[in-house]
Amino acid sequence: MSKIIVMIGAPGAGKGTQARLLSEKYGYPQISTGDILRAMANADTPLGHEIKETIASGNLVSDEVLAQVIKDRISSEDCTAGFILDGYPRTLDQARLLDELADQQNKDILLVHVIVDEELLFKRLTGRRVCTKCGEIYNIYFRSPKRDGFCDLDGAPLIQRSDDTSETVNRRLEAYKISTAPLIDYYRQDGRLIELDGDRPVEEVLEQLSAIIETF
Ligand code: AP5
Repeated sequence: MSKIIVMIGAPGAGKGTQARLLSEKYGYPQISTGDILRAMANADTPLGHEIKETIASGNLVSDEVLAQVIKDRISSEDCTAGFILDGYPRTLDQARLLDELADQQNKDILLVHVIVDEELLFKRLTGRRVCTKCGEIYNIYFRSPKRDGFCDLDGAPLIQRSDDTSETVNRRLEAYKISTAPLIDYYRQDGRLIELDGDRPVEEVLEQLSAIIETF
């Protein structure tokens, strides 16, 4: 049976960083609903405008939009052997839909909860910089590029995400506590939850995650 690895954790916990590294290491595609929605938000359409506003406010995009996004993406051929979800599910409705889709595809779900102290999350989010070309993630406090403002991998400029301002970060953390944190119990009840200390160097977190995945 193939696998669905779900990375769950507060904004800034390191889901994207680890999902990217896991994808490179094991060859499973990384599916970041945040990245997909940011791309959709660039479209000059009513839906694009709505998504852009919702992300900028720090709130969650509707379950209906996410249902379409996830069904489309996981039906692609590159997902056949398994995939890594980074940022989905985020509500109980999304988790229930994922269970249905996993059943249809005959896949098992493992949920990895990345735990990081809330105070540290602010520094991680406000210090984050992202490559405009390849999406590599840096941090001016914890993971700085060799040349200030430019990606180590392809030399493209780095940008700060529009929702990484302190006001929006507060709203995102609130949305996480209200809508997403309850999912941890949902997955814990049937033994699909693994908890991971994300407050360690990136390489150490990856090492522990790899050990978890290899025994799953
Ligand atoms: P999304 O893009 O998913 O944002 P998020 O969940 O808020 O998560 P982040 O990307 O901010 O953090 P992360 O945990 O990936 O951390 P990262 O690895 O980058 O979603 C954005 C928006 O889209 C949402 O607010 C919502 O509006 C919408 N959306 C998306 N999915 C949705 C859904 N399913 N339903 C509804 N709406 C949805 O790391 C953060 C920083 O820390 C980086 O600078 C990194 O370098 C650094 N760092 C990482 N690990 C370490 C470490 N171990 N040590 C030191 N620094 C580290």
